[in-house]
Amino acid sequence: MGIHDEDIARVRSSADLVAVIGEHTEIKRSGRNFMARCPLHGERTPSLSVSPEKGVYYCFGCQRSGDAITFVQEIDGLDFVGAVESLASRYGIQLRYTSAGEGQRRGRKKSLQEAVGKAVDFYHERLLSGSDAAEARGYLRSRGYDGDLVRKYKIGWAPDDWDQLARHLRLSADDLRDSGLGFVNKAGRQQDAFRGRVMFPIHDERGDAVGFGGRILPGHEGPKYKNTTTEAEVYDKSRVLYGLHTHRDGIVKAGEAIICEGYTDVIGFATADIPRAVATCGTALTEEHVKLLKRFSANRLVLSFDADAAGLAAAERVYAWEKEYELDIRVAALPSGVDPDDLARNDPGGLQRAVDEAVPFLKFRLERVLDAGDMSTPEGKARAAEHALDVVREHPDALVRDQYVIEIADRTRIDLARLRELLASPSRPRPAAPQYVSSSVDSYDDDEHEDHRPPERIRLTPEDEAIRLMIHRPDEVAGRLVPVLFGDPIRREAFEALDSDGVMAAADRVGERAATLLRRLAVESSDAEADDVVAGVVRLSADRVVRDLQHRTRLAESPDDRQGFATAIAWVKTQTEGLAERNTREAAVTQLLPWLIQNAEGRNG
Ligand code: UTP
Ligand code: MN
Repeated sequence: MGIHDEDIARVRSSADLVAVIGEHTEIKRSGRNFMARCPLHGERTPSLSVSPEKGVYYCFGCQRSGDAITFVQEIDGLDFVGAVESLASRYGIQLRYTSAGEGQRRGRKKSLQEAVGKAVDFYHERLLSGSDAAEARGYLRSRGYDGDLVRKYKIGWAPDDWDQLARHLRLSADDLRDSGLGFVNKAGRQQDAFRGRVMFPIHDERGDAVGFGGRILPGHEGPKYKNTTTEAEVYDKSRVLYGLHTHRDGIVKAGEAIICEGYTDVIGFATADIPRAVATCGTALTEEHVKLLKRFSANRLVLSFDADAAGLAAAERVYAWEKEYELDIRVAALPSGVDPDDLARNDPGGLQRAVDEAVPFLKFRLERVLDAGDMSTPEGKARAAEHALDVVREHPDALVRDQYVIEIADRTRIDLARLRELLASPSRPRPAAPQYVSSSVDSYDDDEHEDHRPPERIRLTPEDEAIRLMIHRPDEVAGRLVPVLFGDPIRREAFEALDSDGVMAAADRVGERAATLLRRLAVESSDAEADDVVAGVVRLSADRVVRDLQHRTRLAESPDDRQGFATAIAWVKTQTEGLAERNTREAAVTQLLPWLIQNAEGRNG
């Protein structure tokens, strides 16, 4: 798999290394060579030396070196073939591939990206000059977006019509669908995916257009944002970051990337003179995102979510990423309910301060717990300390943990030695029956507790436990939890909404009660045994089925039917007994699970 050697050589000899590097940094002649401040790492004095004759560079600061292909790989985060393709298209060189399949695959990807690129231009043009875009232009102006900004981010307008883009692009039905730009409706007509929306084009790290986030205008019907469908072939929301291509130089220079949640937040940061923000596109932060940022030499990631959302980010994953990718992950504390875009417009200095004063992830969580604690009584302090220790316990580094324990001692005035002892004990002693203590980190309950009464205890059902595991340790229950196990409709709704997008995204998609449940369960990790939890919900579900079968036995007309039900009941009961014993438990789950699913689908007698 690859590109013909001769073509690679042609690309190498055609590339003007000084010009390629000059696009990212100011480059000056110095004798036979050129010198520049290295755009591959942040620095004040030039240490990148470029030899145009040899077509190579070397940085005395970061020791990176190579030719034009290596440079494009580094700066655009591309693999070798991707970098060669990027340079080839720039110098008009036609590439031949050593395997036809590979060439075809890449060719198709490229043509879909071109279609998306054309859509970007179409929408952009419509916004700038369409007579139907006056309201959109007025809206953007009211948000402080001038012409330059609209052009810089290529913001567009999708006309409020069925198929204007489709008619303009004239794609095949397959290409229209696979590009995510539209689809063929039931009547066999091509139709646009986006209509009546302000369009924020999304580019991948190398600057190719891959998708859109479309915002509804205020006062119009529909969800606020609609993003390119996950079915689209060139759009992968778990690895794309809005603004990365535009702001990559700012990220490299600072060695830092700011991660926020919205398109307008990214633009807000840039207008506040902080040109290094990116956003996930309607999804939670993934390891792929983190890896991508690391490739752009970001050694520090600053999470700039709404304070409540930042507190909910999965702590275990954050610490694992810090270790694995040698990253410093911080949180810029924004006032609750305020997003970076609000702050950029009303108090840019405050936004800058929030970034400058970003604190380590653990510190941020700990302070929220302690701030919410009731320090006026011994009971309140004890509870706050317990919660705080739970938060600290999640950190993998003992030295780090100990320093935060000192902080807990300071704040709660509880004896440090006692706290250390408690920290070392495997986990906080829990009541025998699983119970959920509504956490003080849980801002959703704030209204109910304004009088600083201790938070109410809410009983955690086995189904809740199962959902909680699904949120915090999905790998351990993968394949063993299925919708039929959830008898309560709210719980089933909550469970079904959970996917790789994360719990916050799931909460946004479900009804109010399921959403509240998900958010509650998201704030505290579970120390329950996955096997116990699975067995617990399987047992409850089996019990429900037995009751249902008994009911149907009583209604059955024929003796044969009654016999059939009786056999089924006996079998389920035997399996259920197996659930109680450790050594038969797994086998019982394996037997019962498929049967319960089939039964629910009505295929069993
Ligand atoms: P927000 O609701 O915070 O919007 O969604 P925002 O970024 O502040 O936008 P403005 O300032 O009101 O215009 C943040 C992100 O969540 C995703 C989008 O990616 C959005 O940028 N989102 C939000 C959706 O995917 N769908 C929605 O309905 C809402
Ligand atoms: Mn906003």
